[in-house]
Amino acid sequence: MIPCYNHFIMKTITVNLKEHSYNIFVGHGLLQNISNLIPAKYDKNPILIVTNPTVAKLHGEDLVKSLKRPKDEIHIIQIRDSERSKSFETYKRIIDDLQKIGQKTKPLLLAFGGGVVGDVSGFAAATYRRGIPYVQIPTTLLAQVDSSIGGKVAIDLPEAKNLVGAFYQPKAVICDLDVLKTLPLAEIKNGMGEIIKYALLYKNVKDINVGNLFADISDNLTNMFELKKECIETIVAKCAQIKAKVVELDEFDEKDKRIILNLGHTFAHAVESYFQYSKKYTHGECVALGMILASRVSLKMGKISNIKVVQIVEAIKRSGLLSVMPKGISSEIIKIMDYDKKFIDGKTRFVLPNDIGKVYVDETVPIDVIKQVIIESEK
Ligand SMILES: NC(=O)c1ccc[n+]([C@@H]2O[C@H](COP(=O)([O-])OP(=O)(O)OC[C@H]3O[C@@H](n4cnc5c(N)ncnc54)[C@H](O)[C@@H]3O)[C@@H](O)[C@H]2O)c1
Ligand SMILES: [Zn+2]
Repeated sequence: MIPCYNHFIMKTITVNLKEHSYNIFVGHGLLQNISNLIPAKYDKNPILIVTNPTVAKLHGEDLVKSLKRPKDEIHIIQIRDSERSKSFETYKRIIDDLQKIGQKTKPLLLAFGGGVVGDVSGFAAATYRRGIPYVQIPTTLLAQVDSSIGGKVAIDLPEAKNLVGAFYQPKAVICDLDVLKTLPLAEIKNGMGEIIKYALLYKNVKDINVGNLFADISDNLTNMFELKKECIETIVAKCAQIKAKVVELDEFDEKDKRIILNLGHTFAHAVESYFQYSKKYTHGECVALGMILASRVSLKMGKISNIKVVQIVEAIKRSGLLSVMPKGISSEIIKIMDYDKKFIDGKTRFVLPNDIGKVYVDETVPIDVIKQVIIESEK
């Protein structure tokens, strides 16, 4: 832990990407100290805060106050609180506001919300005047450990999510753990799915020391859900460190290094697609089920021991995430996965655990193994 200013303490992780490098700050009370954390070179740029009504109501005032800027230098746009905001329509609204305030000096955009706000406003920042500076201030657990880091920004098309986007790194990522206190339980679970994912793949990421992340997480599940100070800070910072390192290895997703982050996601997407991306199960919960299925595929392929699979399943069960396939949907899930395989890329590349903390990629898993694992997971 590194002491920063007198009145607050935080961890700092640097994402090293040459001229695109930036810091991720993780700690408590950061929102109240935001003006010290935004790089000073943007002190004179007019600000556009992009947020949504939920986050604005809960935390908007704190952010505006701590920016310590004259009122006429801060502009706010609220977008609809929904995945549907990752649209051309919302993108255009943000661009229009940037154009109103940004004709003389490039504005600084602050993406203040979850992954939806981060993705659409990051895409606006990437494209307005061929790129303006932006800072991610993620307010969900998922956004703090995942979507705010790495510069993937996008909007959706009716055909699929994230089809129109860019790689565009923020100038800083500021993760205030205090804002998580207002998150509903479902959103904590959403983030927990991704956090457990990092615990199953961290040994693939060389040159970082996150100790035994899986043990840390599975020993502290209650503390995590209760957002206990030290615990949440350490674990969020470690996950951010892993994501940062993977991004450093493959900034533009062209060296096949980011694929490990897809652990559990192939199965998860099929389940989410079955439920039409409704709120029934969050993305993170589906990823949790996906990781269980991936472990069992690996077991059938003789690549992981049963004892490790049991430990993975136990941790997911104890965290209250999805650990069995919802009743009666196996055959539909198989159909969706079969369709994806045939029509999307001809073969499915599975990321599978071969130890706790270690994964491998396999594109030769027989469809019968997949089917069997899906059917057996429905209890
Ligand atoms: N860019 C990337 O690398 C990347 C990675 C993963 C996911 N994503 C994207 O992220 C999006 C999902 O992000 P998300 O899970 O954060 O969802 P979200 O942005 O929809 O936020 C979830 C809910 O939490 C509410 N909320 C946010 N902060 C809150 C707070 N502090 N207190 C109370 N409520 C709060 C939001 O208003 C929303 O209702 C998806 O669009 C996904 O595609 C992007
Ligand atoms: Zn995910």
